[in-house]
Amino acid sequence: MTNWSAKNPYITKVTECYVLNGEGSKKETRHIVFALGDSGLDYKVGDALAVLAENPPHTVDELIEAAGWDREHLVTSHNGERTLWQALKSDFEIHRVNKRFVKSLTEKVTNTGMRISVQLIEQIRKPVGVMGSAGDSEIIRTLNPSIENDDPVAKVELLASDAAKLEDYIWSRDYIDVIREFNVNYSAEEFLHLIDKLKPRLYSIASSHDSHPGCVELTVGIVRYTHHDRARGGLCTVFLADEVEIDKTDVRVFMSPTKSFVLPQDKSVDIIMVGPGTGIAPFRAFMEQRVFDGGNGRNWLFFGDQSEKTEFYYKDTIESWLDEGHLYKFTTAWSRDQAEKIYVQTRLKEHGAEVWEWFENGAYFYICGDKQYMAKDVHRTLIDIAIEHGGMNEDDATFFIEKTMMREQKRYLRDVY
Ligand SMILES: Cc1cc2nc3c(=O)[nH]c(=O)nc-3n(C[C@H](O)[C@H](O)[C@H](O)COP(=O)(O)OP(=O)(O)OC[C@H]3O[C@@H](n4cnc5c(N)ncnc54)[C@H](O)[C@@H]3O)c2cc1C
Ligand SMILES: NC(=O)c1ccc[n+]([C@@H]2O[C@H](COP(=O)([O-])OP(=O)(O)OC[C@H]3O[C@@H](n4cnc5c(N)ncnc54)[C@H](OP(=O)(O)O)[C@@H]3O)[C@@H](O)[C@H]2O)c1
Repeated sequence: MTNWSAKNPYITKVTECYVLNGEGSKKETRHIVFALGDSGLDYKVGDALAVLAENPPHTVDELIEAAGWDREHLVTSHNGERTLWQALKSDFEIHRVNKRFVKSLTEKVTNTGMRISVQLIEQIRKPVGVMGSAGDSEIIRTLNPSIENDDPVAKVELLASDAAKLEDYIWSRDYIDVIREFNVNYSAEEFLHLIDKLKPRLYSIASSHDSHPGCVELTVGIVRYTHHDRARGGLCTVFLADEVEIDKTDVRVFMSPTKSFVLPQDKSVDIIMVGPGTGIAPFRAFMEQRVFDGGNGRNWLFFGDQSEKTEFYYKDTIESWLDEGHLYKFTTAWSRDQAEKIYVQTRLKEHGAEVWEWFENGAYFYICGDKQYMAKDVHRTLIDIAIEHGGMNEDDATFFIEKTMMREQKRYLRDVY
C-alpha cells in the first residue's frame, strides 16, 4: 500500500463543502468532505488530515507582475522543475511575507542617504559607553532622525533591527505589498531561496471511517481578513472555501495519525468532551464511533460558540444522539447570547460536582479547540473543580490533574491548536 506523506500526498477531490453557520453569523465554518477513493487511506477517530493547499491564482499573477518576472520561466523547487507560476502556486507560502525576506531588503534598498549597517552599530556601540545598553533601533534612530519619515533605507534598517517592529510589519503584508513599497528587484531564483516552502495544515477529523466508508470529513473555520485595502486570509482555509470546486479540483492530502488522542479501549468507560467552535470536530467523530461500537459508556459533550442561532453546528445530529440516548448529556455555552460571556469553563464550573463524580468514576476528559486561551482556562477550571469538589489543596489538585489524570492515567487528553 502506498505510504502517502507530505512528499508524496494522495491527490483527491472534495465531494461536499458547505457553511455550517446560520444567516447573519460573523463566522464562516465549513463542513468539508474528501473522497478517499482507491488511496487505501484509513484513519481512526482522533487522527488529523493534513492538507497541502495552493495559493490563489490572482495572488500568483499579481506577484509575478509586481516583481516583473516571466511566468513561464523554468525554476527548480523542492518538488522538481516547473514554471515559476506553478512553483509559486503550489510549492511556496506567498500569502504572508517572512522575516528573512524583509531582512534581505537591507541588501536591496539603497539610496544616497546614510546607510547604517549592523556592523556599524557594533562599531558605535563599543567606544560609546552611554549607548551600551541602547537597543539597535534606538541607536539607528539617534543617528538617523529621518527614520520615522519615508526614507526607505532607514525603514528597512529599522525593521531588520527591531524584532517587535518586524513582527508588526509582517503581520499584515505579503510579498506584493513589500515589493511594491520598496520597488526592489529580485531574480526569481533569489526570491524562491528566501521564501518558505508550503507547509501542510492539519485538521482534526470529524468523521468515523466506520460510519463514512471511503471518505473523511472536516470542520474548518475559514480565516479571512483585510489589510491595506486588500482582502486576504489563511492559505489553506481560503483555498478550500474559494478555490476548490466540488469533484473537480485536485487537493493533496495525507493522514496524520494520533497516538494519544484516542477513545478508551474499554467501551463502558464514560467520556467528557469539551469542544467549542471547530473543537467540535473530533467529538462528532468520537460520537459516531461510540454509536457504531455500541458500548455502554456515557458520553457528555460541552459545546459552545458565539450564538445558538448561528453557530449550533451539527444541531440535528446532536439532537438525534440525545433522542436516541447515545449522548447522555449535552451542555452548551453560547458566549454572545447574553450580556456577560458564557464559556465552556463557566458550564464546567456550574457542573463541577457532577464532573468530579465522573472523574472519580474513571471518566476520560477530552478537550479540543483554541490552545491560546480556551484550553488554558479549561485546564485551570479542572484544577478548581478538584479543589472545590475533591477537597484538595492547590498543589494536590494540580498534581491530580496534570500528573495523575494527564500523565499517568492518560485520561485527560488534548487536541489543541
Ligand atoms: C492538530 C491540529 C488540529 C487542527 N484542527 C483544526 C480543525 O479541526 N479545524 C480548523 O479550522 N482548524 C484546525 N487546525 C488549525 C489549522 O491547521 C490551520 O492552522 C488553520 O486552518 C489556519 O490555516 P490557514 O492556512 O487557513 O491559515 P494560515 O495561512 O496558516 O494563517 C493563519 C494565521 O493567520 C494569522 N492571522 C489570523 N488573523 C489575522 C489577521 N487578521 N491579520 C493577519 N494575520 C492573521 C494568524 O497568525 C494565524 O495563525 C488544527 C491545527 C492543528 C495543529
Ligand atoms: N493556529 C492557527 O493557525 C489557527 C487558525 C484558525 C483558528 N485558530 C484558533 O482556533 C480557535 C478555533 O476557532 P473557532 O472559530 O473554531 O472558535 P473560537 O474562536 O475558539 O470560538 C469558540 C467559542 O469559544 C469562545 N471563547 C473565546 N475565548 C475563550 C476562552 N478564553 N475560553 C473559552 N471559550 C472562549 C468564543 O467566544 P467569543 O468569541 O464570544 O469570545 C466562542 O464562543 C480560535 O481560537 C482560533 O484562534 C488557530
